[in-house]
Amino acid sequence: MPTKVETDSVTGTETTGHEWDGIKELNTPLPRWWLIVFWITVIWSVAYFILYPSWPGWDGVWNYTARKDVAARLEAVQAERAEWLDKLAVASLDEIEQEPDLLEFAIAGGRAAFADNCAPCHGTGGAGGPGYPNLLDDDWLWGGTVEAIGTTLRHGIRWAQDEETRISDMPRFGVDELLTADQIGDVAEYVLSLSHGATDRTAADRGQTIYAENCAVCHGPNGGGNAELGAPQLNDAIWLYGGGKENLVTTISRSRRGVMPAWGGRLDPVTIKQLAIYVHSLGGGE
Ligand code: HEC
Ligand code: HEC
Repeated sequence: MPTKVETDSVTGTETTGHEWDGIKELNTPLPRWWLIVFWITVIWSVAYFILYPSWPGWDGVWNYTARKDVAARLEAVQAERAEWLDKLAVASLDEIEQEPDLLEFAIAGGRAAFADNCAPCHGTGGAGGPGYPNLLDDDWLWGGTVEAIGTTLRHGIRWAQDEETRISDMPRFGVDELLTADQIGDVAEYVLSLSHGATDRTAADRGQTIYAENCAVCHGPNGGGNAELGAPQLNDAIWLYGGGKENLVTTISRSRRGVMPAWGGRLDPVTIKQLAIYVHSLGGGE
């Protein structure tokens, strides 16, 4: 039996017939503007559903997706990259230097690979830290030409797993009792005197003979270093392990023997080439 429609006396609106504790629900119609917008969105969604990809496996009537666009653009970039990488793989270092675009491409790739692989030890900008050489200066342990840097990268330094790794071990003068503690103190003073940092002249004078007999073979008679042996220059004020007397005594007593992994097996040859060119470009390349 249909209920009689009741009209609210205050608003003149029909009620729904629902009543709670004497409070009756009004049946207020939806505003017209709201209904119109609602139907427009319904129609819009149906159109969208048909025109655009909305169903797995079907790309819609227009057959357009932004994903295809991105994929196509990525492919174009990769094709261009591949072309550059191929060029880089065969170009000699001279040719690369001659061609600014290629050089820029190599440096950009090297910078990215450096951030991924080298920054944890050498710092994001290559400035290094105690035990990790600064790659920005022109002070090289193993040589600063692109070729030398490339060799260092491919084979690592004191990296046992690589047969051609760069290797040379400074003797442990203290630990192996090759020199007494006094002699080590003296030779440390002498080393400091090479960069005008000595405080005890007479000790430095005593250290000179010890240096000539024990150290000059690797570090050179005047502390000029030797890149063949990875022996650092000692007559500059640039220190890998810190330049205070205490640091020097520790270095001479125990020898440091820093290790750098070989990258030959981990990175492809073109990436290593890019890295060598990048490191060389950092400012201190020879
Ligand atoms: C695990 C730490 C570590 C990582 C990672 C590392 N290095 Fe090294 N690197 C060293 C150490 C330590 C030395 C110094 C070794 C020595 O005492 O002779 C060194 C030395 C070098 C040298 C020789 C510097 C000179 O003066 O001759 C170059 C060049 C170099 N690293 C570049 C790189 C590049 C490029 C990468 C990334 C592919 C890299 N390193 C990653 C630790 C690291
Ligand atoms: C067999 C070659 C060899 C001999 C001999 C040798 N050294 Fe070294 N020395 C090295 C190498 C290689 C390094 C770099 C070690 C490293 O990278 O971990 C080094 C590093 C050092 C350093 C650290 C430099 C820095 O920048 O922190 C000092 C100081 C030093 N040697 C002093 C001496 C003194 C003094 C003697 C003689 C008593 C001596 N060395 C004998 C090869 C040698």
